[in-house]
Amino acid sequence: MNILKIGGLITLVSALTIISCHKMDEGNQAIAKAIVEKSFSTSIAIPMVMDATNASFAAKSSSATIGGQSLNTLSYGNGGILGPTLKINQGDIMNLVFANQLSEPTNIHWHGLEAPAAQDGYPTDLTEAGNSYTYNFRVTNRPGTYWYHPHPDMATASQAYRGLAGFFIVTSPEEQALNLPQGIYDIPLVIQDKRLTGGLVYNPDTDDQNIGFFGESVLVNGTSGAMMEVETRTYRFRLLNGSNARIYNFALSEGLKFKLIGSDGGLLDAPLEVSNILLAPGERADVLINFDNMPVSTELFLESASFSGSSTQGNQSFKIMKFKIIKDVADNFIVPTTLMPVVKISESSAVASRNFNIGHMMVHGNMNEVMHPIDGKTFDANRRDEVVQSGSVEIWEFDNTMGTEIHPMHLHGLQFQVLKRTGGRGTIQAWEKGWKDTVLAFPGEKVKIIILFPENKGKFVFHCHNLEHEDAGMMLNFEIK
Ligand code: C2O
Ligand code: CU
Ligand code: CU
Repeated sequence: MNILKIGGLITLVSALTIISCHKMDEGNQAIAKAIVEKSFSTSIAIPMVMDATNASFAAKSSSATIGGQSLNTLSYGNGGILGPTLKINQGDIMNLVFANQLSEPTNIHWHGLEAPAAQDGYPTDLTEAGNSYTYNFRVTNRPGTYWYHPHPDMATASQAYRGLAGFFIVTSPEEQALNLPQGIYDIPLVIQDKRLTGGLVYNPDTDDQNIGFFGESVLVNGTSGAMMEVETRTYRFRLLNGSNARIYNFALSEGLKFKLIGSDGGLLDAPLEVSNILLAPGERADVLINFDNMPVSTELFLESASFSGSSTQGNQSFKIMKFKIIKDVADNFIVPTTLMPVVKISESSAVASRNFNIGHMMVHGNMNEVMHPIDGKTFDANRRDEVVQSGSVEIWEFDNTMGTEIHPMHLHGLQFQVLKRTGGRGTIQAWEKGWKDTVLAFPGEKVKIIILFPENKGKFVFHCHNLEHEDAGMMLNFEIK
């Protein structure tokens, strides 16, 4: 076993004195910062598209004007905030020359892609400040919406929050043949909440570390109070919850519905009509929205509806962005009746099942700081927590029965399928019917997934995608042998 250098980072975690391990007193639980709605008058930014087979960019300090304020940000590439949308054909080799122009170590994780272990942004595989690294691997994933963000141990939340994230879009001739809306009618939307007062500073207090770092402003593609002018036709929107901790229960005003066509791992087998899509941090949904038959100058909103199941968030409904109809056009688009086959992994092919308790917290020190362990353990890069066989099928269960918090559980380097949810919502949701890499367990829920481990061997992580939980150690290793 090679021992990875970790620069003393995890020693901090292991040095904490764990006094007790029990359920938190609900009465003391903090709640998410409320959203303050804006006037929705700023044209939405659309990230530039970059060919992933021949790409280069740097992570660097930048600045951006957001909500009328000039803020210090981090970005990939052109400045401002966020990074370009990398685009590739399924089966092509991506090549990205990446420079770290930050003053701290960083790396890039390809969220949802079947990346080789050495290029997946393992938390201790870092590119030091001033250095470069070339990411080069074949992208085998199905057509769909993936994304990238930094993943350094204990600094993912801070770097992603300050602006480092971007879309990674995979397409194929099969997808093109479906004639889904393209170009200016195919729009990625990353939704993130930020604190805009006092600069874009990541300074979580104890409550933030416990429940997540929430902002009062919702940004879409880095735009606060975002507005998009649309025509009376069908658009494809790729929704990504890129927030540190906030869940959105996406809905549309004017009684409009979504045609759900894709989830984390690409296109579904057939479109599904839904009025709500609840996405936790890390999750994606590909949707079609039809603005047909709406009079010019109609304004409608992408919103987050209130939801139940969590004591820390969900009691507020708020607007996220505005669509304004500006042009009446003839549209002969027909929603395809089938999209792309989703081959079910058969339960009887599973050779092992594993159960992970994600519902216990550890309180230490002054009883205010909380750790969020998985099975009583926090991240240690020198451990192999689970060893699995490449090409084998396993069933994993995330058990939040005893928990009081929301945990979106994410596995690196693969896509899985959701088999079953018991407790809480009790069912598999529409957006969980295709391929997934992140699955939400509300308090009281147990979620079972089925995984076919890919050919890429090596050590990967799985973790809670509440980035404050992840950075507080809610992350373990699995090694594919
Ligand atoms: Cu998007 Cu390990 O995460
Ligand atoms: Cu990931
Ligand atoms: Cu969590």
